Amino acid sequence: MVKIAPSILSADFARLGEEIDSVKSGGADWLHFDVMDGLFVDNISIGLPVLKSVRAYTDMFLDVHLMIDRPARYARRFAEAGADLVNVHVEADSEEGVLAALREVKALGRRAGVTLKPATPWEAALPFIGLADLVLVMTVEPGFGGQAFMEDMLPKLAGLRAYIASRGLSCLLEADGGINPATAPAAIAAGADVLVAGSDVFGAADRRLRIETLRGTVK
Ligand code: DX5
Ligand code: ZN
Repeated sequence: MVKIAPSILSADFARLGEEIDSVKSGGADWLHFDVMDGLFVDNISIGLPVLKSVRAYTDMFLDVHLMIDRPARYARRFAEAGADLVNVHVEADSEEGVLAALREVKALGRRAGVTLKPATPWEAALPFIGLADLVLVMTVEPGFGGQAFMEDMLPKLAGLRAYIASRGLSCLLEADGGINPATAPAAIAAGADVLVAGSDVFGAADRRLRIETLRGTVK
């Protein structure tokens, strides 16, 4: 069954513990943690101190999405701060830098993923797919929550799904951006294993119902 990963980017940060409790008790599988540096993307969000606090607060699986320039500089520190999975953008570093970041995360016993911006073809994940535990396909331009799902990312998800299946890889496929009850079914049909949803889940009064709706277990 598809996993749902609410993005705390859309949570009320003044009440973050309660927000995490609400999605955990609503059945969320993972918690998605968006890190932005104001350089790789045009926004600044949260970083290591918040991750350490969240790690101390919850036992949820923490899916960290680094939208930062040259993530090899920081991947190890995010893994040490409590990330269960660290995602780095293939556009943000050299191939050697991305590989170094993945290796450092995996050496600490955590999972590592590579992330693709909308303009990046799915083949850009191939140099890393043997090492990566997950490929994250951005279905909006990274930087902000609340944007519209890009339907033209569906073939990218499907291309990666076909490649993963043809090689018998265990790599997971995640979609991030614009996921809501209208777009989730297409992302699932294209092969996503994990759906990130920020504004849709945190904007819903009944978070359990919304998470189940996204997962497809409520009609
Ligand atoms: C965007 C982030 C997303 C964002 C998704 O740069 O990577 O994780 O929080 O937000 P929604 O679900 O509102 O599109
Ligand atoms: Zn994200």
